Amino acid sequence: MTNSNTNGFNSSFGAIMAAAGSAVGLGNIWRFPYICGQYGGGAFLAVYICFVFLIGMVLMMSEFVIGRRTKMTPAKAYVALRPQRPVWRWVGILGLLTSFLILAIYLVISGWTLNYFWDSVTGALGRIGGEAGAYEEHFGCFASGAVRPVVFLLIFLGLTAAIVIAGVEKGIERISKLLMPILLVLLVLICVRSLTLDGASKGLEYLFLPDFSKLTGEGVLAALGQALFSLSVGMGVMIVYGSYLPVDDNILKSSMWITVCDTVIAILSGVAIFPAVFACGQEPTGGPGLVYQVLPVVFNSLGGFGGIISITFFLLLTLAALTSAISLLEALTAWLNERGMKRMKGVVLVSLCVAVLAALASLSFGDGILNNTHLYNILDKATGNYLPPICALLTIIFFGWFMKKDDIMDELSNHGTVKIGYFKVFYYFLARIVAPAALLIVLVAGIVGK
Ligand code: TRP
Repeated sequence: MTNSNTNGFNSSFGAIMAAAGSAVGLGNIWRFPYICGQYGGGAFLAVYICFVFLIGMVLMMSEFVIGRRTKMTPAKAYVALRPQRPVWRWVGILGLLTSFLILAIYLVISGWTLNYFWDSVTGALGRIGGEAGAYEEHFGCFASGAVRPVVFLLIFLGLTAAIVIAGVEKGIERISKLLMPILLVLLVLICVRSLTLDGASKGLEYLFLPDFSKLTGEGVLAALGQALFSLSVGMGVMIVYGSYLPVDDNILKSSMWITVCDTVIAILSGVAIFPAVFACGQEPTGGPGLVYQVLPVVFNSLGGFGGIISITFFLLLTLAALTSAISLLEALTAWLNERGMKRMKGVVLVSLCVAVLAALASLSFGDGILNNTHLYNILDKATGNYLPPICALLTIIFFGWFMKKDDIMDELSNHGTVKIGYFKVFYYFLARIVAPAALLIVLVAGIVGK
């Protein structure tokens, strides 16, 4: 049985926008700069880019192939491709479970972002003032509060759910085609402002001049986790999107576009943030609070323009988060749908469950009332560093070693109508040998080396 609720994406362009919408998100604009700052700037960037192209992109193509070949969601797709080994179903289910956990933590951060957008619009953010530490204190107080963050995360979830209910083509594809170009324009505007500040070059040096002595084993694992997280691969979400790809879509080309797009936006986010941070005498190692604690100081110091830039930035971040959250919710909904549940009912059910987990995670952040449970930190580490590489490793092993090569090549070449040349040989080698080996080594080294 296929995903009967939908005909999938309408055009290749729409499909690329939707998948790029999934990939480009908080991971690029909120997470990438602070992780990069924590693990040494340029050196981290270099390792990250290698992982993106050697592992991340390979996984994306593989997930698209699995999805489009079977037109099914992960758990069923694995079994359909390898009926003799139904145990692979569990890899699909592990991926979905991981997506659920990612969605929960994603909603927490999206809620913060929506709140900061709102406070920029009302001017409340600007009024907090420029005293040293004022924004840190504000963020700590806000994010560990009991009501506001939860209310905003629920509003954000409501928006996400509404679009997923509207369907794959009418909801997801349409909103992505609209939002992705806007996002790029907003980001470029912020980059221009950041680069024209006095002292911006120090930020660029920090981002682009690698100092490998600062990179630790944990940093390498973090780069891998970040590469997978940022491209939305490993958990099967792209298998679901793959099942919606048009039959004539060139998977190699589309994956390359999406990967390049995602990487360029991550780098642009670094270019938007680091120069501004240095120009205003702030530290790049601010952790998860970087965009919430450091950037408002930067916006404040920009005088009259600051307010507008602040609104623009948090709008950008909210929109990016929206198209990503949509993909996570869609994957979970499609799974329920395949098991016979109506789209609407599936969305409501997943939303209710994830709302509870997200609210609990939010209440356990910082000094929140549930802080002794450490739920936020556990979810953050699990979904940021550990679960994605594990899921990705299993997925790529399935793809490289258990799927028929002829099926793969047939799907990549659209049944022989598209020339894929030598690249397919290279790609297959990456998928069979390089990506699994690299995933295994980094994963084991990251865990052992702690
Ligand atoms: N890639 C998104 C980001 O960078 C997050 C995301 C969306 C994701 N869908 C996913 C991560 C599926 C892993 C799996 O913010």
